[in-house]
Amino acid sequence: MSLRRECISSLKEVSPAILPSLLLCDFGNLEQEFERLEEAGVSALHLDVMDGVFVPNFTYGMTIVAAIRKLTELPLDVHLMMVNPEKYVQQFYDAGSDIITVHVEATDDAPALLKQISDTGAAAGIAINPDTPVSKIEAALPFADLALVMSVHAGFGGQKFIEPVLEKIQQIRSLPGGEDILLEVDGGINVETIGKATEQGAQLLVAGSAIFNQEDYSLAISDLMSKVKCPQ
Ligand code: DX5
Ligand code: ZN
Repeated sequence: MSLRRECISSLKEVSPAILPSLLLCDFGNLEQEFERLEEAGVSALHLDVMDGVFVPNFTYGMTIVAAIRKLTELPLDVHLMMVNPEKYVQQFYDAGSDIITVHVEATDDAPALLKQISDTGAAAGIAINPDTPVSKIEAALPFADLALVMSVHAGFGGQKFIEPVLEKIQQIRSLPGGEDILLEVDGGINVETIGKATEQGAQLLVAGSAIFNQEDYSLAISDLMSKVKCPQ
């Protein structure tokens, strides 16, 4: 098993786990930010790559992923919100990504794209936007290590949690290839919503504003963890 794919089984072991989304962190002080997050005991970092086309916002690419790789040993969970991701997955792997997640809405052939990611040695994730039905990822699930259920419309931090998407978790679990896939929920996770998500079986909880809008990251993360509920 590749080193990077091993991070999937270690994340399963520590789940439910909170992954900070770096979208709202202080990019001028990354080293200090990572020290504070490592002190807070986070298990991995969530990196939001936006191309200004697939989503109406623009963040960063491989160069910043490579810079982050040099600053931390934590697994890098890279969320690609871009068109034509197949052109760049090898470069994101080379930059140090451990998990590379692509959107089913950004490809005509998700199984092939996930296989391409796996062939690099990275763990492969498939993401689904709030308005996209689970049936769209059914064919892709057997090729994925992780399924990301967006609980906000992709593109920005600080948005309101879209609770009905949680139904997708059980739908995914009931499909071939979904039985023990690692399940991630991304967007609007805070002390009011994390209990609902974990109760439905979410294993990785991506949180941005709920952490980076707080002074004390350790306190913010322990407050979130104190609201985690066991799956029904
Ligand atoms: C949105 C991103 C999320 C976002 C989460 O497209 O994929 O990771 O940064 O931020 P919050 O937790 O503030 O909704
Ligand atoms: Zn994200």
